[in-house]
Amino acid sequence: TKARAWSALFSEPMSDLVKRYTASVFFDQRLWRADIAGSLAHAEMLAAQGLISEQDHASIGRGLAQIASEIESGAFAWKLDLEDLHLNIEARLTQLVGDAGKRLHTGRSRNDQVATDLRLWLRGEIDLIVGLLGELQRALLDLAEQNAEVILPGFTHLQVAQPVSFGHHLLAYVEMFARDAERMQEVRRRVNMLPLGSAALAGTSYPLDRERVARTLGMVDASGLPALCRNSLDAVSDRDFAIEFSAAASLCMVHVSRFSEELVLWMSQNFGFIRIADRFTTGSSIMPQKKNPDVPELARGKTGRVFGHLVGLLTLMKGQPLAYNKDNQEDKEPLFDTVDTLKDTLRIFAEMVGGETDPASGRKEGAITVNAAAMEQAARKGYATATDLADYLVRKGLPFRDAHETVAHAVQAAVAHACDLSELPLSVLQGFHPQIEKDVYEVLSLRGSLAARNTPGGTAPAQVRAQLAHHRARLAQ
Ligand code: ARG
Repeated sequence: TKARAWSALFSEPMSDLVKRYTASVFFDQRLWRADIAGSLAHAEMLAAQGLISEQDHASIGRGLAQIASEIESGAFAWKLDLEDLHLNIEARLTQLVGDAGKRLHTGRSRNDQVATDLRLWLRGEIDLIVGLLGELQRALLDLAEQNAEVILPGFTHLQVAQPVSFGHHLLAYVEMFARDAERMQEVRRRVNMLPLGSAALAGTSYPLDRERVARTLGMVDASGLPALCRNSLDAVSDRDFAIEFSAAASLCMVHVSRFSEELVLWMSQNFGFIRIADRFTTGSSIMPQKKNPDVPELARGKTGRVFGHLVGLLTLMKGQPLAYNKDNQEDKEPLFDTVDTLKDTLRIFAEMVGGETDPASGRKEGAITVNAAAMEQAARKGYATATDLADYLVRKGLPFRDAHETVAHAVQAAVAHACDLSELPLSVLQGFHPQIEKDVYEVLSLRGSLAARNTPGGTAPAQVRAQLAHHRARLAQ
């Protein structure tokens, strides 16, 4: 009997420690659907090329179908001795269908297999992520629409700057998540290319039809042509696609973490802008009054691990000589964890913002309750309409720089009186500039300020409505 599952070359068995150290079967199992899809496509092509018989092809198909149902039901016996999922599946196949199973590996290497599996699997995950990003955007659009008329202070440097519509504020996040979805689609294009047929590193002496395999697996470009990895050495060792995906995921988590930070701030008693429903908050074991925004906090925290995986993958690939090296086995856990973290995070945010449809009532209710009065109250502090007064004076003919200076004096006076600009009597305002008239109070109101910002992309109600319509139409496609 052989000392190893796959070769007579070795004179002694592998040590248990080495076995455990080198095996990937306990984490790469999750690629099984992709592995079987790749094997079916490869076998179909081998038969079409006359490299295996139709009978063998049929046996392989039957065996792999059984293996799929065994894995699905949990009956499949994964063996550490067989190192990874590829060898586990192949060994079981041979057990089930004999020599046909042994012929499957003609013109193929695990190096091509693992690269193919990872790409097929990631392609599916990207599609799910794009779907979740769509859900989150729709949830944000609904909340933005409901709050288009609600005003809160816009900040720069976290200092009150100018009033903005809360709907407008939320639409900024829609822009971010829209870019994330677009980036994911762009990454998908480079993920969806076929490494199979590289036969470990140099190509193969068998007349493989790689284009046929690519078509079977749906690895085609925008014009429907088969998308092949062009160079066999690169095909088996390239993990750019995993890194690009991780970079796109990291950027998406940046956006989630920025939103999270705002939710945490808004929920704090010092802002009081929102409430987050009890089902999304947790308590304290010592302070009976506490409700903590754990979901956004954790999302902010999990951003760190996604960044970590990106740097981990970059570091994994740096300095690797061509072609495949076992180092690459280390690509899986960070990639899997990135996908899991991102999907869970997007799902929970879509639900927190948009809610889940209640099967009983058919109603959807998000977990965020907006305190419009608190937002408006906050916008009345900090002289949020000072810029509007300056613009008013410009319309009266003052150069902007002079208007800016004039208003600074007015703000100083308001600070001294502990009141808002709009609470200064007209006579006092006219002391700063004689051309100030009664109509200034409309300009100094929050709603007047908002309505005035009517340039494309601005916070005026008409512009917010235009943004909403744009995104609705885009997402309906
Ligand atoms: N388990 C390996 C991986 O994840 C599969 C490829 C192994 N190839 C090899 N020649 N050792 O990368």
